[in-house]
Order: sequence, then C-alpha cells, then structure tokens
Amino acid sequence: MSVWEAEDFDAEADNNSFGVDVFDHSKKSTEKRGLTPEFTEDDLGLDRSLRPRKLEDYIGQSRVKENLAVLIAAARQRGDTLDHLLFSGPPGLGKTTLSSVVANELGANIKATSGPAIERAGDLAAILTNLEVGDVLFIDEIHRLNRAIEEVLYPAMEDFVLDIVIGKGPAAQSLRLDIPRFTLVGATTRTGLLTGPLRDRFGIAFRLDYYNESELHDIIVRSATILDVEIDRLGALEIARRSRGTPRLANRLLKRVRDFAAVRADNNITIDVAKEALTFFEVDELGLDTMDNKILELLVTTFGGKPVGLNTLANALGEDAESVEDVYEPYLLQQGLIQRTPKGRIATQRAFAHRGVPYDLS
Ligand code: ADE
Repeated sequence: MSVWEAEDFDAEADNNSFGVDVFDHSKKSTEKRGLTPEFTEDDLGLDRSLRPRKLEDYIGQSRVKENLAVLIAAARQRGDTLDHLLFSGPPGLGKTTLSSVVANELGANIKATSGPAIERAGDLAAILTNLEVGDVLFIDEIHRLNRAIEEVLYPAMEDFVLDIVIGKGPAAQSLRLDIPRFTLVGATTRTGLLTGPLRDRFGIAFRLDYYNESELHDIIVRSATILDVEIDRLGALEIARRSRGTPRLANRLLKRVRDFAAVRADNNITIDVAKEALTFFEVDELGLDTMDNKILELLVTTFGGKPVGLNTLANALGEDAESVEDVYEPYLLQQGLIQRTPKGRIATQRAFAHRGVPYDLS
C-alpha cells in the first residue's frame, strides 16, 4: 500500500504549488544562457501568446497529433477521461504546449506542477484531492519525482484512490480516499530515468522529435503574425535553420530578431536582417551559441579529439553534468558533432570542420 503521513498534509498544504503554472527555475545555471532550449521566465509571457490552443494550430509532430486526435475524440465519445499520457523528448519541443492543447481539446482544466516542486507526499495528496473530474494534471520533469511520492501516484493513476496512513506505529490506521477521475500528463526529458512501475502506468507514451526547418519556418511565420512583425520566407528560414530543431528557441530567436529589426530595419525581417541579428546575438549558422562552441572547442582543441568523460567535460565548462547531458549534448549529438562512446565524448570530423581545425587524430 502507498503510504504517506497524514500530518504532512496540513503542514505542506500551503506550500504546494498547485493550481498555477509552476516550473522549477531554481536548479540549473544553464537557464541564464540566452539560447538554451530550457524554459526561462521570459518564455512564460512569450509562450502564452504564441502557444497554439488547438491541435489543428499545432505545427509538426504529425504522428503524435494524429494519435492524440483519435484518443481525444474516443474519450469524448465515451464521455470518459483520457488515458494517462507521457511525453518525452529534449527540452523545448513543446511537451508543455501539447499538454495544454490536449486539455483544451478535452474541454478540461489543466493544473501544472513539476517533479521537483512536489517535495512531500502531502503536496501530491493536496493536488490530487483538489482536482475536479476530467482535469488534466501536468507534471513536468516527472522523472525527478521522489520515489516515495511516486508511490502515492500509483493507486491514484490506476484506481483513482489515495491510500492514507493516519498516525504512526501500532495505532496507525489506513484510510482509502476516492479522488476524481483525472488524466495525468507526464513530461520528461529522460524516459530512461523513469522507474518501470511509473512508466507502466501510462496508457500511452509519445516521444517528441526535433522539428525540421520547414515546420520551424511555419511556426516562425505564425508567431510573427501574432507578434505583428513582417518577415519574408527566407528571413523565417534563416531563423528556422538556427533554431536547433526546437520551437521554443525559434520563438525566442524571432523575438530577438524582431527587436533588432525594430531598431535597425524598420520592423521588417529579411534574410539579411536575420543573419545580421543572429550574428549580433552570437548564434552561428548551425544555431550553436557560445556554450556549444566552447564544448566543441574543448573536445576538438584542448582534448585533441580524444574521448572525454562527462564529469571532466562538465568541470572544464563549469557546469553540472546533468545540464551538459540533458541540455547541451542532445543537439550536438543529433547534429553529428559529437559522439558518446564507452570511453567518453568525442568530437566528430564535422565538429573539427565546424571549428576550422584539420581532422588529424594521428
Ligand atoms: N509555438 C510553439 N510551438 C508551436 C507549435 N508546435 N506549433 C505552433 N506554434 C507553436
């Protein structure tokens, strides 16, 4: 039986972050980096206005969308709640956006929190008991949920009940509380870090992929319309090309280029304006910023193409290993600029070319 201490409930109820969009901004130093796909304060305002509200307005991830459309229609037809969903994939690909689209399509409320924000079992119990029938509960970074708290989720997900233990020792009594039927939408950058029992309790798991240039182009044009800025096809493509496959970055770069265009180019984004602005903001042709290039420079020049362990690399960068692995590496890997080998990370021939260093490992 899942157990949490009833005393925790009151002590923590005031503290829980339920009911508002909550994202854990506290942990990583990387959020200061302007161009990481990680969420920043700036995005909260930006994303709200640019975020699509319907599936048909959501660009890209077509297979995921098709599946969701069927599942949502079926749930609505049955008058039942949607199965619990898991979205996985690198940061910035739209897991949060898609979750709010799902809630909207279901005509349901969304309550958002994150794994690290739920510190006690009582926090989660407070969240669950405050849900209304059909609500979507979105838990970002669900792989960072504490294991003991995770256990409270199992019966909630499976049978929509909470198992509570009141008191301690021999006098302890267990109590089972019904909670409203709800849909849990979990998001994670790392499916591998999810425990088996939690993964098994999701009805469906979707992996979001990086967006191609044409999809990012469409997102940028849509956002430019909302932001009321003029952009031509080549200007949008130039931003798309440097957006590292992620809409969050595409929108953020668009906003920067828009500012640049407002001051220097009469609010009109052409390819030349986009190029000039992005160079000004130190985003190179592959969308790499100074941090990415620092990683490549270390692997290519300092370590001369030899394998480098994750911790060594993180130390050399002054970053934590988790950020290097979750935030910086996925795109460098996807671009074939680095490889993970059993002996460590290595720079590829493409990375040498990108840094303008001859590839000679002899
Ligand atoms: N804004 C952010 N992500 C988006 C997407 N996938 N489609 C449309 N607009 C977006």
